[in-house]
Amino acid sequence: MRLKNKVAVITGGAQGIGRAIALGMAREGAKVVVADLQSEKARSVADEVKILGGDALGFEVNVADESSVKRLAEATFAQFGRVDILVNDAGVYLKSSVVDMSEADWDRTLDINLGGNFLCCRAFVPAMREQKSGRILSMASGIGHYGMKQFSHYAASKAAIIGFVKSLARELGPDGITVNAICPGSANTAMPRSHRSEEEVMQRLHSTPLPHILEPEDIAGPILFLASDAAAYITGQSYNINCGTYMY
Ligand SMILES: NC(=O)c1ccc[n+]([C@@H]2O[C@H](COP(=O)([O-])OP(=O)(O)OC[C@H]3O[C@@H](n4cnc5c(N)ncnc54)[C@H](O)[C@@H]3O)[C@@H](O)[C@H]2O)c1
Repeated sequence: MRLKNKVAVITGGAQGIGRAIALGMAREGAKVVVADLQSEKARSVADEVKILGGDALGFEVNVADESSVKRLAEATFAQFGRVDILVNDAGVYLKSSVVDMSEADWDRTLDINLGGNFLCCRAFVPAMREQKSGRILSMASGIGHYGMKQFSHYAASKAAIIGFVKSLARELGPDGITVNAICPGSANTAMPRSHRSEEEVMQRLHSTPLPHILEPEDIAGPILFLASDAAAYITGQSYNINCGTYMY
């Protein structure tokens, strides 16, 4: 029970990696707020937590909308009175070459993936500052390091998260708050399937030095450690969880 009595907010918690993080944190004793654009699915993950014997709130949020994020913070404090862990997991993965890309797709990707990080941090950091402790974990991506054709907006948003996290880690260190980024390799979720055939997805999942298909729980495991007291002095880092696909 490494997270006993902690309160964790997980955006994008309705499915995939976010769901695995929410369930994993609940198993470690945290009370979780499962926040997602998909409200029914968010509530159903919260119900799964309750069936496990945990405490949870499912809440609809659009992380790109300031007033929606404000409502999420208000609901979190009303239900649990504090916040210890913020996981910025919500994200979109749109496909387009640069020349064919609409400004709407560019803006949507940056607004959700990067802007959502900013808005959620801004909403929850004051409470963490007051209690002089907190953990912020933001999902970046290996693509933020090595790039990907037809996903330049996604790559830009994820590379920017790494810079954002490093800067925020410097700002918040004196308040006892750690801020880290996670860079998963291709994982077995709906997201890579939105633009690749099943065969391509499986080929990518198999072409790693460690012969293993990355499941959401494999990403959640190191995040549980980073959210725990054992990781109190790790901040401003970006962690590759990728079965060794690339190494730096
Ligand atoms: N799956 C991968 O291979 C992979 C690899 C690297 C990084 N990532 C990152 O990990 C995170 C989770 O990925 P996943 O594979 O579980 O994705 P997913 O598509 O299964 O889940 C993303 C969740 O974010 C939610 N979401 C989208 N826009 C939102 C918004 N505006 N407000 C609130 N919620 C919103 C969706 O409803 C969904 O539940 C993402 O940030 C993604 O970029 C995934």
